[in-house]
Amino acid sequence: MMAVSEQVTQVEKDWRAAPLKSLVEHLVRDHRSWRVKDFPLIQELFDRLEDTAGSMQPSGLVSLRRAFYRLRAEMEGHMSREENVLFPAIVDAENHAVVAGSAGPRPVFGSMQNPITMLEDDHDHEDRFLAVMREAAHGYQLPEAADENLRTLFGALQALEAAMHAHTRIESSILFRRALQLSGKKSGA
Ligand SMILES: [Fe+2]
Ligand SMILES: [Fe+2]
Repeated sequence: MMAVSEQVTQVEKDWRAAPLKSLVEHLVRDHRSWRVKDFPLIQELFDRLEDTAGSMQPSGLVSLRRAFYRLRAEMEGHMSREENVLFPAIVDAENHAVVAGSAGPRPVFGSMQNPITMLEDDHDHEDRFLAVMREAAHGYQLPEAADENLRTLFGALQALEAAMHAHTRIESSILFRRALQLSGKKSGA
């Protein structure tokens, strides 16, 4: 049986060779599941925790919740920028490369490097929010008296953190890199 790190490497290796269109679809599925499932669920868990009379309120919960809201707001903008600007341009460039052997016309935003630089900055912000959340939650160490809501919340936050790290790693180290290589192949080159 493969260790988790080997499985991650295998997954990343597969994405290095897959069509960019499938990689983009995979990433958009992650976005959708955060928007539709994980973000609302986590918000609901925070609400429940606050409403539960006598529930233990660990220190840091207020900062944790605040950082989560900031992460969520940041992610909403970030995912839209990826889905509306960069991802369609990547799929277009790949289509041209397949059909005509070149990356096709220059996208409206100029070089592919422009949106990628902006999105990499977003990734740094997201990393910082995730780190602030982890710190506010004391490394997600559950207090002994933790109730079921808190356990579920910490579990959901840790799963979200892992999923986001894996997602941004695939974007930065595979998708963005491959997009830049592709956009380097200009017509007639
Ligand atoms: Fe993304
Ligand atoms: Fe991203």
